[in-house]
Amino acid sequence: TWKLGDFADAVIQSVREQVGDRGVICGLSGGVDSSVVAALLYKAIGPQLSCILIDNGLLRKNEQQLVIDEFSNHFKADLHVVDAEDRFLASLAGVTEPQEKRRRIGHDFIDCFKAEAEKIDDAHFLAQGTLYPDVIESGADPDGPAATIKLHHNVGGLPEELGFELIEPLRDLFKDEVRRLGLELGLPESLVWRHPFPGPGLAVRCLGEVTRDKLVVLRQADAIVVEEIEKAGLYRETSQSFAVLLPVQSVGVMGDARTYENAIAIRSVDTSDFMTADWSHLPYELLGRMSSRIINEVKGVNRVCYDISSKPPATIEWE
Ligand code: XMP
Repeated sequence: TWKLGDFADAVIQSVREQVGDRGVICGLSGGVDSSVVAALLYKAIGPQLSCILIDNGLLRKNEQQLVIDEFSNHFKADLHVVDAEDRFLASLAGVTEPQEKRRRIGHDFIDCFKAEAEKIDDAHFLAQGTLYPDVIESGADPDGPAATIKLHHNVGGLPEELGFELIEPLRDLFKDEVRRLGLELGLPESLVWRHPFPGPGLAVRCLGEVTRDKLVVLRQADAIVVEEIEKAGLYRETSQSFAVLLPVQSVGVMGDARTYENAIAIRSVDTSDFMTADWSHLPYELLGRMSSRIINEVKGVNRVCYDISSKPPATIEWE
């Protein structure tokens, strides 16, 4: 078995050979895989790397800033942040069907990415954070049921029509190896251990039509869930913990007045492969703190539920 230090050196060396003096573009999402790819490439080719972050308005609280802090302040990489919130929200207006939401987000993402990539001179390669499990899964029957399920998981990433040669330095690695590599490259623990976040972002956690106002509510509730999980020391023990904004209003009472406001569901799961998952058996006290903080601090929410469904038959995300 290789030591990761040697492995990092070896990958850096082979990236240098493959790239030569040409340019590489890397899309950043705030997630572990794309961050590790970018950090690796930055170490390998420095100024020949350009990173693109499309802020689709569906990111978590402070997510754009986190990426900027890491990749333009810390690594000093060439980072292009595209503020595309208006465009994505305009395409999502009136759309309630989950797969249609994903399709529109996917198209907008490619268009935005393409437009930004065209501004970068001499780009020849596109770097992708494909991992070994993605390679195995996408090697299965492309029309089989697995392919349909994975359709929305961005496996394979951006289409070939973008015209770049692909570079996939993590192709031989499993997730835990990617994390170790990330730490070795100097990425902070908070980024390396971040829970996975779906490409379509908060859109699939804002059930029904996505609007700016709903996203404001969801983002605040989500930040409270994550903050409380972290404070309880359970962030690393759970695989994904987040809030979902339900398309339901319910009656409540505040002082002498009747309220009719939104409901938030808390979702937290434990899983090793994301194909099956158990709901996290969180302590009641923790659930209680999350609930009272969300109801007190997030305007427009008067009810909080805890999702106690396992996968299967429920999925981790609600859409
Ligand atoms: P489900 O909801 O199918 O999710 O149990 C399994 C894992 O995949 C993530 N997920 C997605 N990731 N694009 C992504 O990049 C998507 O459209 C998408 N849908 C679900 C989900 O967060 C979980 O980790």
